[in-house]
Amino acid sequence: MEQQPARSEYKKVWSALSTTEDQAKLHVIGVTEEDALRSTGEQTLKFLQESVGIRKDDVILEIGCGIGRVGKLVAPLCRKWIGCDVASNMLALAAKRLRGLDNLELKEISGYNLSGVADASVDVVYCTVVFMHLEPWDRYNYVLEAFRVLRPNGRIYVDNINLCSDGGWKVFEIHRAFSATNRPPHMTQNSTPQEIETYLSRAGFGDVRIRTDDDWIRASAVKRETAA
Ligand SMILES: C[S@@+](CC[C@H](N)C(=O)[O-])C[C@H]1O[C@@H](n2cnc3c(N)ncnc32)[C@H](O)[C@@H]1O
Repeated sequence: MEQQPARSEYKKVWSALSTTEDQAKLHVIGVTEEDALRSTGEQTLKFLQESVGIRKDDVILEIGCGIGRVGKLVAPLCRKWIGCDVASNMLALAAKRLRGLDNLELKEISGYNLSGVADASVDVVYCTVVFMHLEPWDRYNYVLEAFRVLRPNGRIYVDNINLCSDGGWKVFEIHRAFSATNRPPHMTQNSTPQEIETYLSRAGFGDVRIRTDDDWIRASAVKRETAA
């Protein structure tokens, strides 16, 4: 049997999960129909609007943008949308889906940082349905990178499934059924609200807000003007 890549070999893992359009869509959000993709994207957009807000002058960057499920809805509402992803297949599909929008940039990244994005050049960074696929250290590295690229008063939004919720616990139990040597490298690892809150505070963000009204942690924070 072919050896699976390690979880942290994100480029290898996610390139292999996105070799066809349907496979990529299934790994992004579990549906392939455009209407279903749109309605899940609308839900995410609503969470962004209720937390960090989206303003027409904003430069907005998504970490792990996939096929542009959310970017397709965010880009028309802001000055510029930058979609970053580790997998070039995902970015090629995003380019196809977002054809016609002229205020966007798609950027292939290493999987560990936002190298190539200038310091203090972005108003909003968001990262949705990605943390569950990352090692905790890489989650925090992205929070630090978000802090670096955000302008003073820039806003961040991140989410993950909440281990402490009933639904999150079910996800944990389903994954526990895999034997230790057979765990898929992209399998979901939940967070606790404290974990996410800690990353944001330790990175220097203020006004940390954590929403846990369903099985998700949806966190937002602000890089205060006075922050280093
Ligand atoms: C479940 S999909 C979510 C995509 C998109 N955020 C959405 O909600 O539609 C996870 C995405 O994260 C990307 N990804 C995985 N590991 C990554 C990493 N270390 N850095 C950047 N992107 C990563 C994958 O290629 C994939 O496009």
